[in-house]
Amino acid sequence: MDRSVLSVTTKPLLRALGGEAIDPPPVWLMRQAGRFLPEYRKLRAQIGTFLELCYSPALAAEVTLQPVRRFGFDAAILFSDILVVPDAMGQKVWFEEKVGPQLEPLARRHGLADLTVDRVRAHLAPVYDAASRVKAALDERTALIGFAGAPWTVAAYMIEGHGSRDFAAAKHWALAEPESFATLIDLLVEATAIHLSAQIEAGAEAVQIFDSWAGVLSAQEFDRWSIAPTVKLVRQLKAAHPEVKVIGFPRGCGQRAAEYAAATGVDAISIDYATPAEWARGALKCAVQGNLDPVVLLAGGPMMAREVRRLRKVFAGAPYVFNLGHGVLPTTPPEHVAELVRLVRE
Ligand code: CP3
Repeated sequence: MDRSVLSVTTKPLLRALGGEAIDPPPVWLMRQAGRFLPEYRKLRAQIGTFLELCYSPALAAEVTLQPVRRFGFDAAILFSDILVVPDAMGQKVWFEEKVGPQLEPLARRHGLADLTVDRVRAHLAPVYDAASRVKAALDERTALIGFAGAPWTVAAYMIEGHGSRDFAAAKHWALAEPESFATLIDLLVEATAIHLSAQIEAGAEAVQIFDSWAGVLSAQEFDRWSIAPTVKLVRQLKAAHPEVKVIGFPRGCGQRAAEYAAATGVDAISIDYATPAEWARGALKCAVQGNLDPVVLLAGGPMMAREVRRLRKVFAGAPYVFNLGHGVLPTTPPEHVAELVRLVRE
């Protein structure tokens, strides 16, 4: 029997993303690899920069597998970052300890000329190497998830040069010069399609598109800069890889998630912790992933147990993937994560 067919039909995550209600639901966590794990901190201390770690296939694979080994998650998410794409396009990107990502901000008009998609695949070859190593190490019930930032979210960092509460400079560019902004977004659609396709070819069976800053956009701008580019991206991915499952994470967009789901054709929507689970179950005509508040996981205890039972009840009988509403917080005790997985599978 063809092993790829067998794996597609038996991995709980892929079955849920394909529309099946699985009991207990598959579970993985955004930012499941990272600073909350002592084994991550130990390995991280031995290597210079965060990007060096992302571009060291053996180490990136090891860090990807650490939480899977420790907690038995239903999926491994490739250890990397959304900002490797601008790095590969020629923008200067670095990560400052305790500050976060820094980029040399893109200059309006002139900045675009220096960017190219031609080098993306070669520059990010170590990432794809890491993905194949992870895939080879996973058992037959654990899926590999690849990921990228959505064009809007990556553009927002490229223009701002760092994180921001409102990404006002990026929004300003989009409003004042929509033509040049559209050129940037189109370049990012192309670069992201290349990057995700290469991860799929290296073994990723599902990909998540992180639109972490979708929530700063007005309704009209959301249609234009979050939904429309994601429609193009998903269409390209599905044309090249009809079997791949796509998870969209339009964080902070509220009820506009229904329009995003219908327009983009993603297989699942990852909902943030502010989105009511009951609403998502009724309104989203696709699988749903989410949405325990990461602070509830940080706190643990009986409240966490109540919240897990509530979510499982809301999504009983529906295609559902248990996850957080955003990433694991760095101060989370690993024992709370072990307890969470136990509760989800109870
Ligand atoms: O386990 C996983 O989820 C895979 C790894 C992963 C990282 N970044 C590793 C990382 C993933 C999926 C991301 C996505 C990412 N990166 C997003 C989208 C998800 C989200 O949080 O909304 C965004 C916006 C970024 C950009 C980014 N990278 C920021 C804002 C920061 C600083 C904040 C922080 O957590 O430190 C990073 C750095 C980063 N990316 C770290 C890790 C493990 C910490 C760096 C270190 O360990 O020194």
